[in-house]
Amino acid sequence: MENKVYSMPRIGDMAPDFEAVTTTGKLQFSEYNRGSWVVFFSHPADFTPVCTTELSGFAIEKNFFAEHNTKLMGLSIDSIHSHIAWVNAVQEKTGVLFEFPIVADISMEVAKLYGMLQPGESETAAVRAVFIIDPEGKVRLIMYYPLNVGRNMAEIKRVLLALQTSDEHKVAIPLDWQPGDKVIIPAPKTVEALTERKNSDLEMVDWYLAKKSL
Ligand code: BEZ
Repeated sequence: MENKVYSMPRIGDMAPDFEAVTTTGKLQFSEYNRGSWVVFFSHPADFTPVCTTELSGFAIEKNFFAEHNTKLMGLSIDSIHSHIAWVNAVQEKTGVLFEFPIVADISMEVAKLYGMLQPGESETAAVRAVFIIDPEGKVRLIMYYPLNVGRNMAEIKRVLLALQTSDEHKVAIPLDWQPGDKVIIPAPKTVEALTERKNSDLEMVDWYLAKKSL
């Protein structure tokens, strides 16, 4: 198979802007993003089982995301009519309402802009992508999952808090970190700072690997 090349935003890039028809009306991404974090995720298709569990997961966690200044936005290569029928069906069957906008990307333009269409996996359905975009519009974290494996909501929430904690306290976040755990502080840049660190009560594995509680 010939490999098609679509653009893929990278960590540190500005999130590509677009205007789109969504389940909450027409919107401009940059305006939606202004002043808030955005978790922008794609799903392969409406009326499919794994996607229903995933979008329900996002809907159920709406208070968590709102409490952390984060807006949600979904996307699939389906029509707005399909989206609305699916949102309605899920609400009728389960009582869960997808209140966040879901982009109807029938032209595939936004999916291609965000590297959500990965032709080796599917030529017509978006993979399960997650972009975490900060309030300045910068892409801070990207996850891609294939069509047949659902994402992990606990991990999406964890990495959002990890990014926000790292920004707020200018620290790095170690393996398997959970909120409340110690964080890694930047390595000393001078010999004097090194001496200070050696004399501190920080949890220290070596001079370059020290942890503190927040
Ligand atoms: C699903 O959401 O269940 C699904 C969607 C596309 C391919 C495979 C599974």
